[in-house]
Amino acid sequence: MKIGVLTAGGDCPGLNAVIRAVGRSAIARGDEPVGILRAYEGLAKREYMELDMRTLGGLLPLGGTIVGTSSFEPHREQAVEAIKSAFEADGFDAVVAIGGEHTMEITRRLHVEDGLPLIGVPKTIDNDVVGTDYTFGFDTAVQVATDAIDRLHTTAQSHDRVMVVEVMGRNTGWIAVHAGVAGGADGILIPEVATSVESVAAGVVKRHERGKSFSIIVVAEGAMLTYEETGEQRLIQPVDAEDEYGYPRLGGIGAALGEELERRTGFETRVTVLGHVQRGGTPTSTDRILATRYGAQAYDMVKAGEFGRMVALHGSEITSIPLERVKGVKTVDLELLEIGKRFFG
Ligand code: F6P
Repeated sequence: MKIGVLTAGGDCPGLNAVIRAVGRSAIARGDEPVGILRAYEGLAKREYMELDMRTLGGLLPLGGTIVGTSSFEPHREQAVEAIKSAFEADGFDAVVAIGGEHTMEITRRLHVEDGLPLIGVPKTIDNDVVGTDYTFGFDTAVQVATDAIDRLHTTAQSHDRVMVVEVMGRNTGWIAVHAGVAGGADGILIPEVATSVESVAAGVVKRHERGKSFSIIVVAEGAMLTYEETGEQRLIQPVDAEDEYGYPRLGGIGAALGEELERRTGFETRVTVLGHVQRGGTPTSTDRILATRYGAQAYDMVKAGEFGRMVALHGSEITSIPLERVKGVKTVDLELLEIGKRFFG
C-alpha cells in the first residue's frame, strides 16, 4: 500500500515520532510510506518527500516536523478537487493526517464528502482535542513550564518577588494546571474559571503575612483579566487579530496581571512569558511513547481499512473514535486544580 503522512496546524514535540512509527511499520511490512509536505497544501500541489530508512532515522528525539506544516484549508482554498486528483494520480491507498481539532474536521469532511481513505492522529501541546485523554506534545510543554517554574522559584525567593508565569494552552488551562501543580504554584489562572485580580492579590498578601516573601502565579494565555469590583472581564491580546482558524491571537495576560498585582500588593513583580519555547525541542519520553503508539495504531488502522476515524488514548488503552465525534474543545480537569488550590496561600 502507498501511505501518505502529513502534519497540519501548529507543530509540537512528537510529530516526527508519529511519522517514524507509521513509516517504519509500513516499510517493515513491504508498504510504501510517503511524506506529504506542508499538510493538505502539499497534497493539493503533489509535493512529497521520500520516507525511507535514511529519512526516517534519528527522528525520535527531534522536535518539529520533517514534512513541514501549514494551516492550509482545502475547502476554503477550493483545493478539494486537486487533492482528489493527487490521490488518484499518485496512487495513495491512505493518508494519515496528524493535527488538532481543525485538521480532524477537514479530514472528516474529505472522508465523508469525498470518500477519501483518511485517518486522523491528534496532536497539540494544548491537550484540548475532544475524544482522547492526552495528545502528545502536552507532556513536553508541561515539563518545560515546570522546569521554568522551578527556576523562577529560586530567583523569586532570593529577591522576595512575585513571579507571574504566562503559559500557552489557547482556550484551555491544561498546561497551566498541570505545570502549576507540578511546580507548586501559589496561584493558577485559567480560561475555564474566572479568578479575580483582587483574589489573587489577597492570596499573595496572605502568603506574605504568614512569612512567605515570594509567590509564583501561573496564568494561562487564554485566562481573562477579571475584576470583582466592576465585574469586568477582559481578554488580553498582543494584537486585535485572529489566527488562521479564527481564534483570537492570545498573549499579554501575564504582563497585565503582573502590573495589577504589583500595584495592589506593593510587592515587586516580574513576568515571564514562556511562549513557543513550550512547543519547540525534543519530546519527553512520555510523548515519544504516546506518539509511537499513535503512529503504530494509525498504520494498523490503515491495514484494517478503518478510515474516517481518529486514533485516541482512553485510560492506558490506544483505541480510535469516529472523526465526527471530535467536536469542540476539551476543557481541563478541574479536580486537579482543586488539589492545586490546597497549596495556595
Ligand atoms: O495550539 C498550540 C499553540 O501553541 C497555542 O498554545 C497558542 O495559542 C498558539 O498555538 C500559538 O500559535 P502561533 O504559533 O500561530 O503563534
